[in-house]
Amino acid sequence: MRLLIFLLLPLVAIAQDDDYCFSQDKSRPQTLQFSSKTAYQIAKGTDMEKLYLVDGCQPQKMWIFHRHGTRLPKTSMIKKAPRLEELRDLIINNYKVAKTKPDTNALCQTDLFAIQLWKWNSSITPDMDEYLTTQGYNDLRGTAKLYQRYYPSVMSPVFNDTYYQFRHTDTQRTTESFKAFAEGLFGSLNSAHPVEIPKQDLLLRPYDYCPTFKALNYKGEGSEYQKYHQSKLYNDTLADISRRLGFQYTLQEEDIKLMYDMCRYEQAWNVDRNSVWCGAFLPEQVTVFEYLEDLKYYYGSSYGFPENERLNCRLVQDLLTHLSSPVSPHVVAHFGHSTGLLTLVTALGIKKDDIKLRADNYESLTSRRFKSSRIDPFASNFVAVKYVCPAQLDREKVQFFLNQEAVQLDWCKVGLCKWSDVLDKYKDISNADCGDYFCRTGGAPSLGSGISGLLATTFAAILVYLMH
Ligand SMILES: *[C@@H]1O[C@H](CO)[C@@H](O)[C@H](O)[C@H]1NC(C)=O
Ligand SMILES: *[C@@H]1O[C@H](CO)[C@@H](O)[C@H](O)[C@H]1NC(C)=O
Ligand SMILES: *[C@@H]1O[C@H](CO)[C@@H](O)[C@H](O)[C@H]1NC(C)=O
Repeated sequence: MRLLIFLLLPLVAIAQDDDYCFSQDKSRPQTLQFSSKTAYQIAKGTDMEKLYLVDGCQPQKMWIFHRHGTRLPKTSMIKKAPRLEELRDLIINNYKVAKTKPDTNALCQTDLFAIQLWKWNSSITPDMDEYLTTQGYNDLRGTAKLYQRYYPSVMSPVFNDTYYQFRHTDTQRTTESFKAFAEGLFGSLNSAHPVEIPKQDLLLRPYDYCPTFKALNYKGEGSEYQKYHQSKLYNDTLADISRRLGFQYTLQEEDIKLMYDMCRYEQAWNVDRNSVWCGAFLPEQVTVFEYLEDLKYYYGSSYGFPENERLNCRLVQDLLTHLSSPVSPHVVAHFGHSTGLLTLVTALGIKKDDIKLRADNYESLTSRRFKSSRIDPFASNFVAVKYVCPAQLDREKVQFFLNQEAVQLDWCKVGLCKWSDVLDKYKDISNADCGDYFCRTGGAPSLGSGISGLLATTFAAILVYLMH
């Protein structure tokens, strides 16, 4: 029966009016607007393949911060999945029985049929809170293989724990992400292991230890997020979506959010298939939601508040220290979370707009740099490649990539920066005692020495290295 429906679908669709059809849209621009739940395969850039070879320079070292790959939802959302089956039946009833299909912007036949056939995958149970999915595993195995292909002289296929340093946070999804990455580099039978996770993980989760960070009003009363959330544009969008699904009243936002989240998750779990729930939304409605997410992340983890630029002090020092030093580890890779990636990008001044994102400038900032979908999809990763260029005046260079796209900083050349400029641009952080610097009202205590000591050692090491 199902087969028959599928065979007939194209015919039905051809005979149809011109309602927007997600399942027949070849470009599907909205799948690149799912914020932190965008699929990596859709968000990743393409210019790394053109830029990874640098004339006259040899790659020496790599430093990577990698968000975990595509994951399952939180337990609370998994528990709400049965509600989606109710919504499915209500929508079908609206169209088939109540005949409340709207005159404009209705679901096309194919998208409607797809919703009718939707079922929740019941092997996903509430105990699997935010577990990495198969696609998520493949995301990281894939980036590892790709980076090894680009930098074979740095990413040797044999693990040892002086040359490689891996670290992940204390969660299933980052542990599995590390394993996937190691499998990509060393094959499925490998002895790669991470360094120990400290009790207070100030390097990979500084946000857990800073009360001022947690207290920032990024989405509460009076925030830009809240103003946008209560705007006419946003309200109209919820009403339009409800009408599109055949409801004669505006659905609870919670229901719309559930459909939207399921659309984003399913699309990331199966990149090559269509999530039927994505058909519930017109592309422009997804754009309205994307901006709400961007406001949340902009103020919650990025340039919205100046404090956010300091939070990842230790991680930036880690980057500078490792890439300054000529000794091993030669490859450092950290596996963490969205907030870690965003605050790292923010500390480095990447994707910063001249104009602040606000509730009222949605229309004028459509080509803003800060788009969480591009910066922080599932498996988002920041890669720094350190070069030595023997015949050049500036012997040391570095290239930064974010999700396989060269990072644009106005003091670098298409992602290629002089190492001396890097040290200069980030000297506030490299000179800081992160214990004070990262958290305005004093978070977790300073771990002592800071980077000054480390840098001194590093410079001494470089001197020795240059003298040889
Ligand atoms: C259902 O979920 C399980 C657990 O995540 C997964 O292994 C399986 O492939 C899923 N099935 C389908 C049809 O997607
Ligand atoms: C570790 O691996 C690197 C890169 O393959 C190699 O140069 C180095 O000699 C190895 N060190 C040890 C202790 O095996
Ligand atoms: C939008 O809806 C919310 C909640 O129903 C309401 O508080 C707010 O005033 C509405 N905004 C506008 C501009 O109508």
